Amino acid sequence: MSKKKLVRFKANKEFERLFEPSALDLIERDHELKGRWNSDFFKNNNDLVLELGCGRGEYTIGLARLNRDKNYIGVDIKGSRLFFGARVIEEERIHNACLVRSQIELVPAIFDREVSQIWLTFPDPRPDRVRRRLTAPNFLNRYRKILADDGTICLKTDSCELYEFTLDLAGKNNLEVLESTADLYASPLKDRMPQIQTQYEEKFLAAGKKICFLQFRLDRDVAPIRPKTSVSAPK
Ligand SMILES: C[S@@+](CC[C@H](N)C(=O)[O-])C[C@H]1O[C@@H](n2cnc3c(N)ncnc32)[C@H](O)[C@@H]1O
Repeated sequence: MSKKKLVRFKANKEFERLFEPSALDLIERDHELKGRWNSDFFKNNNDLVLELGCGRGEYTIGLARLNRDKNYIGVDIKGSRLFFGARVIEEERIHNACLVRSQIELVPAIFDREVSQIWLTFPDPRPDRVRRRLTAPNFLNRYRKILADDGTICLKTDSCELYEFTLDLAGKNNLEVLESTADLYASPLKDRMPQIQTQYEEKFLAAGKKICFLQFRLDRDVAPIRPKTSVSAPK
């Protein structure tokens, strides 16, 4: 491991607004703030919004700066990336944001049905591992366990394939699609979106890629994807 990473990991332990629960603990018992993030940590009753796979936390922090009347939590497994966000949150004293270092798979042990919105910003598209996509049914059904009634999912991606896949899942499962565009910056929706671009988005735009955006309500469980069955030819 590089020296830089070691320095960041050490610094991470000192940030007051970066939580690093161990995966083993979360498997054995729920996080102490589960169901109590607003009352015991943020100490208000504002909407709680998550960004899953937040990287350096740029989107989480951008949203928190824009909307002081909401609480934001970014989740990612990479401590060396979270370091940058945790440092900004501390330096700017952003009281309505914090970060959690964890696998997204474990969010049901960290949150209860207290989350009003989940952002998935530029998740890895996983072209060959459909079930590992952050919008695959097994992930959506985890998110459903932590979303309040009426909770929504926002997906911002440079991957048309991931966008189409998620839109298709929403359709097949009768989930209400609130917003949908395969080219955000050519759509009137762009003016209503938070004006935040992460380094990933800047890189994709510079490469001439289109950005897709999808928002849907997740108010029911999503059916697993059926493996394609091969039909054998009649004898
Ligand atoms: C392509 S980056 C995007 C980062 C950020 N959303 C942005 O736009 O700058 C994807 C991030 O998702 C995180 N990630 C992917 N799968 C994850 C998982 N199962 N649990 C936690 N983090 C995950 C990675 O560590 C990485 O930081």
